[in-house]
Amino acid sequence: MSKSFKTFLKHTAKDFHNQSVNPPVVRASTIIFKSMKDIRKTQAKAKKNPIGGFYDYGRQGTSTTYILQKILTKLEESYHVFTTPTGFGAVFLAIFSVTRPGDEIIVADPVYSPTRLLTEKFLKEFNIKTIFYNPNDLKTLEKNITKRTKLIFVENPGSNTFDFQDLGKIVSIAKKNKILTAIDNTWGTPYFLKPIKLGFDMSIVSATKYYSGHSDVMGGSLAVNKKVFSKVHNAERITGLRLGPDDAYLITRGLRTLDVRLDRHRENAKKVALFLSKNKKFKLLYPYKKDSTNFRMWKKYYSGASGLMGLKIKSGNVNSVKKFVNSLKLFGYGYSWGGFESLALHQEFRETGNRKYLKLAKNEHLVRLHIGLEEPNDLIADIKQALRHLK
Ligand SMILES: Cc1ncc(COP(=O)(O)O)c(C=O)c1O
Repeated sequence: MSKSFKTFLKHTAKDFHNQSVNPPVVRASTIIFKSMKDIRKTQAKAKKNPIGGFYDYGRQGTSTTYILQKILTKLEESYHVFTTPTGFGAVFLAIFSVTRPGDEIIVADPVYSPTRLLTEKFLKEFNIKTIFYNPNDLKTLEKNITKRTKLIFVENPGSNTFDFQDLGKIVSIAKKNKILTAIDNTWGTPYFLKPIKLGFDMSIVSATKYYSGHSDVMGGSLAVNKKVFSKVHNAERITGLRLGPDDAYLITRGLRTLDVRLDRHRENAKKVALFLSKNKKFKLLYPYKKDSTNFRMWKKYYSGASGLMGLKIKSGNVNSVKKFVNSLKLFGYGYSWGGFESLALHQEFRETGNRKYLKLAKNEHLVRLHIGLEEPNDLIADIKQALRHLK
């Protein structure tokens, strides 16, 4: 019987051995064997089948991390999923696995600003050159390809500006030029977009966000196809970038309701977006406007939209923008997103990074809203009262 993924998430990983619905947390540094012979047997099995869950030391994982990896592999429809201590660890692992001194990488201009710092500044110290491309003009990607280009790194949509790119075209440019591809898919998660199926070699999700869903865990996942598996597996072992069992347990527990939460984030965000789209004081950065490129690119590749959106506000009075944000009562102020609660941020320069293709005028300001699982009419009423301050 073929089951829908929603049903799979509810029924998978029941532990009849321990008689618990959720699998237990297995904490181990030393993994104990009955005999030396048993150790060698396990090592031989691990060599033969590196994704089979055979461990001889806790840094490689335990059954708790293995269960999470198996669930995510099914969700991603990938060859394997590596789990890392943070989402940013997964970004690092993806890039570190496939680049070496002398290589070049081409990166989407609106990447998450720590990804920008990693590629533009840190990798430069290791003689790895980064070139940024304009997400709205893929000619800037194509024309920068050289013999040294190893990787195209995409984040979709673009961080804070929510640019939706032609993902299929990026994959076909990469394949034509024999270049590897990675995408940060934290916004959509594989529930709404399956990058490995689309042809990407690697796909990153910060599990800190929607996977865990409760704003109290850090984690990351890196899905891979067979082609890059060995490279990433090797780099993962060398760096020791592995998720601990307690966090793996909480993320597995969060995943049980991923579909329910994301469906509701989508519905709530749609209602709030409809309200926001009528206001002339700002441009809504969310895929809602049917005649826009962003909407077309979103529709072409995604089966849904999550709860994170932006506002590009035009105002000569920055204090009124700050007052608008500060007057929200149901939105918390804080970094991250993907939890059950609504959040707001007024973006300063450091959040957008020093982008090549983003020219914000002095009177243009970016605000980010995460639409949580509250009653959407309450959120709309809250935004309405706060907007009185925007001049
Ligand atoms: C798009 C995106 N990718 C990656 C990360 C990094 O994830 P983490 O905070 O789990 O390291 C974040 C964090 O905000 C993010 O927004």
